[in-house]
This record gives sequence, C-alpha cells and structure tokens, in this order.
Amino acid sequence: MNKLLTLLFLVGTLISCTEKQTALLVSSPSGKNSIQFQLSADGTPQYWVNHGEKMVIDTSTMGFDFKDQASLKDHLKIIGNSTNTVNETWEMPWGEQKNVVNHYNELKVELEETQAPNRKINVYFRAYDDGIGFRYEFLPQQGIDSIIIMDENTTFQLTKDYTTFWIPGDWDIYEHLYNTSKVSEVDAIAKRNNADLAQSNIPENAVNTPVTMRSDSGLHLSFHEANLTDYAGMTLKVDTETLELTSELVGSDRLGYKVKRALPFKTPWRTIQIADKATELIDSKLIVNLNEPNKIGDVSWFKPKKYVGIWWEMHIGKSTWDYAASQDMNSFTTDAKPHGKHGATTENTKHYIDFAAKNNITGVLVEGWNTGWEHWIGFEDREGVFDFITPYPDYDLEEVTRYGKEKGVELIMHHETSAAPRTYEQQLDTAYQLMHKLGIHSVKTGYVGKIIPKGEYHHGQWMVNHYRKVVEMGAKYQVAVNAHEPIKATGLRRTYPNVIAREGLRGQEFNAWASDGGNPPEHLPIVAFTRMLAGPIDFTPGVFDIALPTKPNNQINTTLAQQLALYVVIYSPIQMACDLPENYEGQPAFQFIRDVGVDWDETVVLNGEVGDFVTIARKERETGNWFVGGITDEQARDLVINFDFLDDGITYDAIIYKDAEGAHYKDNPTAISIEKIEVNKGSNLSVHLAEGGGFAISLMKKSEL
Ligand code: NOJ
Ligand code: CA
Repeated sequence: MNKLLTLLFLVGTLISCTEKQTALLVSSPSGKNSIQFQLSADGTPQYWVNHGEKMVIDTSTMGFDFKDQASLKDHLKIIGNSTNTVNETWEMPWGEQKNVVNHYNELKVELEETQAPNRKINVYFRAYDDGIGFRYEFLPQQGIDSIIIMDENTTFQLTKDYTTFWIPGDWDIYEHLYNTSKVSEVDAIAKRNNADLAQSNIPENAVNTPVTMRSDSGLHLSFHEANLTDYAGMTLKVDTETLELTSELVGSDRLGYKVKRALPFKTPWRTIQIADKATELIDSKLIVNLNEPNKIGDVSWFKPKKYVGIWWEMHIGKSTWDYAASQDMNSFTTDAKPHGKHGATTENTKHYIDFAAKNNITGVLVEGWNTGWEHWIGFEDREGVFDFITPYPDYDLEEVTRYGKEKGVELIMHHETSAAPRTYEQQLDTAYQLMHKLGIHSVKTGYVGKIIPKGEYHHGQWMVNHYRKVVEMGAKYQVAVNAHEPIKATGLRRTYPNVIAREGLRGQEFNAWASDGGNPPEHLPIVAFTRMLAGPIDFTPGVFDIALPTKPNNQINTTLAQQLALYVVIYSPIQMACDLPENYEGQPAFQFIRDVGVDWDETVVLNGEVGDFVTIARKERETGNWFVGGITDEQARDLVINFDFLDDGITYDAIIYKDAEGAHYKDNPTAISIEKIEVNKGSNLSVHLAEGGGFAISLMKKSEL
C-alpha cells in the first residue's frame, strides 16, 4: 500500500461515521463501497455497508451457537485491528476472461470475550469496488481441540423491500424455478412437495444463494458465499417483517449439528455483490477473487470443449440408461438380457464420435455405460448398487476410447452415484485410475435421490467434504469434474481449476419431463443474474427439435435462435450440444454451434435486466473471433447492438442467427433467419427478438488492416 493510501485508510479508521463514534472503517479502492464495524454497548459485533451515500446494509450483527459452550455473540472487546491492501492480477487457465484483477482493502478485527472463557475470534472484512466479503477466524482455545457449531447467526439488515429473485433454501437441491417477489413476500415453504424433485427439504422460510435483489432506483445486490470449505452450505432465513436475512446453515439430522471443525479455522466468506446496474453483477469477479490461487499446478491436460452425448435420448424416452430394464442389482452380471433400447452401446457411441469429429466437437458423454442402472432410483437401499468400473456387456469401454482418440474426440466419463457417496468413495481411487489409464480427462457426476446415510443433505458439511474429495481425486488423476446435484459453486475453480462446471439449477432436462411442462421463458434471464454469478453452468443447450414430438405434455419454451444464444450467454468451459445428431443433420443453424468458442479472453455484458433479457459478447482465446448471444423472456423486444467492443482495425464477417418474422416460442419456435454482413468496431445492428427468443452472432476476423 502506498503512503498516501495508508494515510487515507488510517484517517478513515479514526474519523469514520460521526453518529457511530468508534466504528472501524474499510473502503473499497475507489471508495465506492465501505464497511464499518463497531461493538454495541454490551459488546455485540455490528457492521453496516455503504454504497456511495447509500446505506445498503444497516446495522447487522454476528454470532454463533455451539454445542457444549455458551454462544459467542456479545461481551466482546476489540483487542487489535489492522488493514491491508492487495492489488494483483491473476490468470484463469480457462474462463470468461483471461486476466482477473483482484484489488481490495482488508480490515482485520481481533475480538476477545471480556468474560470467561475469554474466547478469541477474528473477523476479516474485504471491500472491493464490486462488493464486499467477510469471514470469521476461530482461534485456538485452551483445552479444546474442536468446536461444534449449532448455528451461525450472521445477519444482513436490508434497508428496502427489494424485488427479489429467489429459489427456496432447500437443503437438498437447487433445481427449483426462480420466484420474483418483494422480500416481504418471500414464501419458501410454499415450494415444498415439488413432484419433480427426487429429494427436497425446505425447513424454513429461507432462500438459497446467490439471491439477487433490485431496488426501484436500479441498485442491485446479490448475496452468496465464497470458498465453501469443510463447512455447511449457507441458506438465508428471511424475516418478512423486519427485512432481515440471517444465515441458516444446512444441518445434519444424523449428527445433530451444523458444523464440526478442529481449531483454528476460517469460515467461508459471506459476500454481497453490489452493482448500479444489472450487467455489472455479471462483470463481477468477487466470488473467485475471494478464493485461494490454483493449488493443483499444471492443468493443461484439460481442454475446454463442446460435447455431444448419449443423454438427451434417455431424457426424451428414446433409449434407456439400463441394459435389461427388468433386473435387480444382483442379477445383472449373470443372466441379464438386453431389451433393445439401451443407449450406451459401443455402436451408438461410435456414431456420436463420428458426428462429433465431423462437427468441431471434441467430447462425447456416455451415460448408462456401467452396471447398476436397474436399481438406481426409487429404492431406499442404493448402497453398493453402482459400479464405476464395470461396463454393461454391450459397451466396450476400451474400444470406444481408442476409436475416439483416432478421431480426435475424448470420452467424458459418467458416474451417477444415486446419492450413495460412501459407495462412490469406496471405488473412487480405482475409478479415477481407470480414467487416467484410458486418457479420459473429465467426468460428469450425479447425486440423484436422498443422501445415504439418512439424515444427511446434499448441502451439509458432510457432503461438502465429499464433493471436495472427488475434486481432489480428480486433481490427482488429471480428471476435471462436472457435478450434477452438486453443492453450489463458491469460486473454488480458482483453487481447483479442475472444477470445470456443475448443474445446481433447473437445467434443460426439465424441459423434457417436468410435470409443469418446462422452464418458462424468464428462467434463463433470471439465471444469468443469480446462479451464474456463482460459477460455470452445465445447462446443456442446443435443442433443435424444440416441439419434442415424443413428449406431448412438454415443450421447450425457446426459439431456435435462443438455443444458439445460450452458448455465449451461459458460461461454461464445457458446452453440450444436447440434441440427437439426427436433429442437427442438414440444419444451417448448426453452423453456429460448430463455430462458437468455449474459452474466452474477454467478456463484455452489453445489456440486460434481471428476468427480462441479457446480451453478452465474448472474445475467443485462440482465434480472437467474437461471439454474441442475446436472450429475452416471454416479451418480444428490439435491441441495438453497438460493436464498439470489437478490436480496432479489423473487419469481421458477421453471421447473424435471429428469430425470423413470425417466430414465437409457443407455436413457431424454429423460424430462424441467417444472414451474413461485414462489421467493424463502431458498427450498429438492430435485432428483433421474438417472444421467448434470442439471437446469436459469430464475428470471424476477415482482415487486419
Ligand atoms: C440427473 C442429471 O442432472 C442428468 O443430467 C443425468 O442424466 C441423470 N441425473 C442421470 O445421471
Ligand atoms: Ca439434475
């Protein structure tokens, strides 16, 4: 920190807020955001947050309840405080952009109880220009090795009844539709008993994070957490009267507590992204910045990729995961008979590999390749069912891997655990060794169902640690992990770049079978400003056969142009082209999927409002070509795209894929118009987006002057 800054800092510390005399203050580098901290008369920690002149979090408190110890919430004194500034730039091995600036001012507050047992706790506050974060550090205590947390009581006192985009604080799944309501109208309990979820537990009127809020004046706040390590996931309990949010950690009915940790340790960061307009939320890199640098070293063994897979055909009922459809788990190796609809056959896989190789797609996912699928869902006793090494008799794993290599296509392994993580852990080392031996560098995992052992939830500490074990095993054997039914993303991809993507939202698959018909058009324009702030999403875009002829009660509430736009709007270093190869054959619009990049130098969010629309431009790392995607909700709209973001002095061939006249997500979704023009930096383009529609543009460098 330079001398002037140090001085400003200290002055800030001394003369902060006049009404709250003794408050410590830390401001973000530009001064935009600031956090203040003080103790109340009875020694209760209090903080509040300002954005410019506005107080965005009013006086809020902190505290913990323990097993076998008094709560830690008051009778504290400040025994020290210090500040620190970091301004560094780090590189993402793959990502939405290459370089990330991590610039913040930190305030460390050291607290000690004024009465026995005189416990000590530190709080770290970091002020960034795009938001704030804080975390607790539990220090050693005499005669105690570990503590058991029954509740964390971090509060966030809102200053307005914001419009809120939320999903319920489900301990077991994030695959809910988003709701839009005032904070005072949040009703998570009404979201219980969702017929489409294999597991769900909504104990309180709480929301899951990221939860995004908007004020009438356009201020946006998004609450989340960063670096969730060896701790329970946090939901936020909503007091609809006082507009106070309180951390509600996911518990374990089996163990009867929320968190057990050896001392000393640091908690995850509690984060608030703060933006004057919606698009700045997507620009924010707060969540990754609050994580540690890469600790697994060289990751050049993984390459971002587009992939196809034996997947959608099971979701629309064309084929099955299981081989025999009639067996139980004890008989599959002895007298199983194929029923003729098994998707994961050697032949079918080769067909997908051929299709990928022809179309600039370098990955093929194969689900249903291994034994166990006869008994994977709808049974209490799922322990020992799945085998992550043994293929069904009609699937030659070595042969398809070899064939893929010959064609420049890598297999993506699939491990569905049916929420029996202990069975998975028993086979983990062997299963990852097998991938290593075959040169398979990515795996999609799945956790459908209620967790075994009973009483554990997907988002509790025990599962957080399970998901981490898997990522660490992946790092050991050079395997990148794409988890479905995961724990939420909290920026760990910075520390473990092999955390490539995850589900953790209501994905495309719901469009194939959800009892409510499918995701409404506003779903993804909300996701872009909520779930996507946490990290990469395996949404699996690219349905071309939108009417779903085999599923009369389901439809994809999208136009074809919107499906293309998703490759740019939704960030992931792995992007599926999820439809069946035959639905792509002969389709001119498929050219966009062939061309579009998956790894970016730069991202520019051109416009957007939460729940309404969003347009994003991204520059491909290797080629310098740009791609643009825009999507809208159920409202048609006209947008003007200004190509100011393009590089100077270059002419681009732009291919524009947009909703044709008369396109509509309900009854005319595939009407698409494709045209080619030349554009330069500074050109403008008006685009019409149909109801539930979108547009995609590829901008290939033509000439450099
Ligand atoms: C749920 C996942 O989200 C889906 O993609 C997968 O096909 C099934 N589980 C089976 O593993
Ligand atoms: Ca799922």
